[in-house]
Amino acid sequence: MDKKFATKMLDYFTEPDLDGAFAKAGRLIRAGELVAFPTETVYGLGGNALNAEAAAKIYQTKGRPSDNPLIVHIAEEADAEPLAEVTPLARELMAAFWPGPLTMVLPAKSILPHATTGGLNTVGLRMPAHTAALKLIKAAGVPIAAPSANISGRPSPTSADHVWHDMAGKIPLIIDGGDAAAGLESTVLDLSSEVPAILRPGVITAADLAEFIPGLSEETRLADGGIARAPGMKYRHYAPKAKVLLCRPQDIYNTYLAEYQRLLDEGVAAPKIAVLATMQGLTGLAQAENCFLLGEKPEHAAQNLFAALRWTDEIDADLVLAEMFEEKGVGIALMNRLKKAAGVLDK
Ligand code: TXA
Ligand code: MG
Repeated sequence: MDKKFATKMLDYFTEPDLDGAFAKAGRLIRAGELVAFPTETVYGLGGNALNAEAAAKIYQTKGRPSDNPLIVHIAEEADAEPLAEVTPLARELMAAFWPGPLTMVLPAKSILPHATTGGLNTVGLRMPAHTAALKLIKAAGVPIAAPSANISGRPSPTSADHVWHDMAGKIPLIIDGGDAAAGLESTVLDLSSEVPAILRPGVITAADLAEFIPGLSEETRLADGGIARAPGMKYRHYAPKAKVLLCRPQDIYNTYLAEYQRLLDEGVAAPKIAVLATMQGLTGLAQAENCFLLGEKPEHAAQNLFAALRWTDEIDADLVLAEMFEEKGVGIALMNRLKKAAGVLDK
């Protein structure tokens, strides 16, 4: 039987004894327990990256397949050295983008247990930008392995409430550091193979990286000889309970009407269609219930997307219509997550 916890919530902004509270949190990590913490991308479910049992606990708690490696979070550039072969290019990128939402996949050193690396000979390293994350890593005194703090397959958590929903009773501590600033997970960049490649798009785009890696493809490299390079990308992700349909903004209104009728015809008494869109996409739907304004810019939609997907579960939607964004800049990462939620990206 799983050990049950009376999960505590630590408020980073109001806790009077922050150093004392983080010292305790650090002790939990060192003792092999899990602590959920805020980052600028999404909340992480952290455990001691050097402890195979802690890593195993992360997989078990998330319900995650154990061939899917964990990102290792550090608080100083120097902390990368014992964990991975740090190439000159990696060093340049660290100087330019860390702390920040860039994970670099590098050849792993043997100090990292297989449980952390998912049995790969590489490791994804990242220095998060949220001060609470950095404070926790320093308090722990060990690198922190952390996937997103959601139950596997569900939308990633962008608030402490989301984490509470998925993790209450399963872990001893959640650190509440407010809403995640970026809202989408870090860009995963593979530097371990001859040609660097983006394995997961994020708010740091190929265009941002091109200054350092001329010719870097915008395409996400998903498969290499049939093997998914970022193992996590092959699993269904971000899926709310209801089916998700992607629509161009100008098509949402008509699709709404057609789908409403279809659901009626199928015998759904009062169809509940959740619409996630910009103002343009919501045109004509002013009277309709269950609209979620994602914001006008892709950056705003990125911040709000996972909360919006979770909200569709709360209202028990029968169907979700989500607006499509132009696939450039942050729009690439946003559409990647939307397509996964809609099940139209199967790798
Ligand atoms: O923003 C983020 O990256 C968040 C926060 C908590 O830092 N973490 C996160 O972790 O999203 P997770 O485990 O949910 O996603 C990690 C992704 C997966 O797709 C995984 O397969 C890939 O990164 N990945 C990790 N290590 C890798 C490696 N050595 N080689 C290839 N892909 C790797
Ligand atoms: Mg995840």
